[in-house]
Amino acid sequence: MTKRKILITSALPYANGSIHLGHLLEHIQTDIWARFQKLRGHECYAVCADDAHGTPVMLKAQELGITPEEMVAQTCAEHNQDFIDFNVNYDQYHVTHSEENKALSELIYNRLNDAGHIKKRTITQLFDPEKEMFLPDRFVKGTCPKCGSEDQNGDNCDSCSATYSPTDLKNPRSVVSGATPVLKDSEHYFFDLPAFEGMLKEWLQSDSIQPEIANKLQEWFESGLQQWDISRDAPYFGFEIPNAPGKFFYVWLDAPIGYMASFKKLCDRLELDFDEYWKPDSTAEVYHNIGKDITYFHCLFWPAMLEGAKFRKPNNVFVHGFVTVNGAKMSKSRGTFIKARTYLEHLNPEYLRYYFAAKLSSGVTDIDLNFEDFIQRVNSDLVGKVVNIASRCASFITKKFDGKLSSNILEPELIKAFQDKGEEIAQHYEAREYSRAIREIMALADKANQYIDAQAPWVLIKDQDKQALTHDVCTMGINLFRILVSYLKPVVPTLAEQSEAFFNDQLTWDSYKTVLTDHSINKFKALLQRVDADKVNAMVEASKESLAQTNKETPEAKIDENSPLASDPISETISFDDFAKIDLRIAKIAKAEHVEGADKLIKLQLDLGGETKQVFAGIKAAYQPEDLEGKLTVMVANLAPRKMRFGLSEGMVLAAGPGGSDLYILNPEDGAQPGMRVK
Ligand code: 2FM
Ligand code: ZN
Repeated sequence: MTKRKILITSALPYANGSIHLGHLLEHIQTDIWARFQKLRGHECYAVCADDAHGTPVMLKAQELGITPEEMVAQTCAEHNQDFIDFNVNYDQYHVTHSEENKALSELIYNRLNDAGHIKKRTITQLFDPEKEMFLPDRFVKGTCPKCGSEDQNGDNCDSCSATYSPTDLKNPRSVVSGATPVLKDSEHYFFDLPAFEGMLKEWLQSDSIQPEIANKLQEWFESGLQQWDISRDAPYFGFEIPNAPGKFFYVWLDAPIGYMASFKKLCDRLELDFDEYWKPDSTAEVYHNIGKDITYFHCLFWPAMLEGAKFRKPNNVFVHGFVTVNGAKMSKSRGTFIKARTYLEHLNPEYLRYYFAAKLSSGVTDIDLNFEDFIQRVNSDLVGKVVNIASRCASFITKKFDGKLSSNILEPELIKAFQDKGEEIAQHYEAREYSRAIREIMALADKANQYIDAQAPWVLIKDQDKQALTHDVCTMGINLFRILVSYLKPVVPTLAEQSEAFFNDQLTWDSYKTVLTDHSINKFKALLQRVDADKVNAMVEASKESLAQTNKETPEAKIDENSPLASDPISETISFDDFAKIDLRIAKIAKAEHVEGADKLIKLQLDLGGETKQVFAGIKAAYQPEDLEGKLTVMVANLAPRKMRFGLSEGMVLAAGPGGSDLYILNPEDGAQPGMRVK
């Protein structure tokens, strides 16, 4: 096999928040792949960094009364430790606020500018006159220009889904100071993305781009590529643009360059050749592992920047879906927004690595962490199937056979059946089809257990004439276990390391091709405890934030401009007058129907005593339509109608509960009549 040179990256976490389970999916996915490549003997490096720049980081540091540099240093150290403790083994964990990144960002910008790819023009934006800063879209709130809903974001309306420019908002206010923003002109720098359309189209033709992503990108081409605004005005935490005092690179300009910068730092440390990986005709492989929400940046801007600045483009961008917990978005109030550190305080990181691996494929579908399934799968697969093989054979070898495996392989055919799966499993890892690899490995574990059950060494050992046979059977068991561990090593490195101590043997990917005979092994120590459901519950409890705690957070801390996994923060308080505007009515569910193509929705016709309203309610996991017909419930009758994919929704039905199947529509007491106001 030719030795490949590979560089893989994970998206850089923002330096203003903690690592949580949503991040971990990606970092574990990257780590498994990098470990696999290294075990195969390739020269593979995995790098990451903290994404340090931008307005949210700047404002959070101000609020904490420290410099952004201090805050970033603290957060970066925390993130790095979280990854280390999850066995996510980056060869370099760096930060985008670094000399390497500054030098590379300036180099790339200067090359783009020299080639005529940077344009300047004046734009008008909202400006906070108190804070004396321009306001990013997410830092402006106001009334939706389309439907009139109050307290909507600067770029889109949660109520009617309209998208608009923050300058279109009615009654805008700055989230930072509360002041009414004013319009102000400023010259901005733009990267000429449309100039790269032909190249991008060609790059995306490559077979390896996931089809879902290629389709998405096709839509973007159809709606036309736009020039990309890469500058921000002071005050801004970032790098100043060369020869442009007071203008800074937008965080998303230098963030992906952070991949190169982190690798540069590694090259300086290990004396590697940076250019060998990044020159235009490089034969080294470069991959970025990212969440689906940042595809645009990685599949359009980033390859275009690299092309324009005469660097190579990535071989592929691996896009994954989001993490949901128990079927719903992670939630602080439900305790399912779980930070890496909270997880580590309660549970073994290898459980999560195994669980994610067992669910991950190369597609972009979301991954649900369902706690019941998590407990069941880890206990039955890892503990019940894999570790159990060793624990049923090891003690006989130690106690009865002097800690030495026999010289005889009793069932070479069974060993061969295990070895024959090696290349297929390797291909699944290579293709990031980890769930397939795990399925194959667990099918083999079942076979090993069937073999041991049938041989029953604990019975054989009692028969003086069958001592040699017992020795051979247990040697088979240990060898089968060793092959399974070598297949699982990228996923559960600690389990593998402890097993290596037990085997008295170091595993590489190819170890499955050999067997151990006449070989001294060490005393077997319990490798993995079962997942304790109480600990899972304790972790969820520890992650629950009260209303008071959530409200204590500053708006800046809650706002993560680009976070895919933002929790469901409790919104700011509303005045009594606002509350009084809500028209709550008793409604009779006249008709309830399934909605073709919708996983969660039921279509309801609600009788308000003379008037009928149609509402789409996300309660399908909790109710069958036929159980709802004839029931009375409470609805918000004056909610502005909202156009949904399936039709118009003219209100909202009130329900309570943690969600999913645990959701109850509010049932008024007897005597209520459709149309009655709810007091
Ligand atoms: O979405 C995010 O969390 C960004 N901080 C990811 C940046 S990835 C790369 F481009 F740096
Ligand atoms: Zn609206």
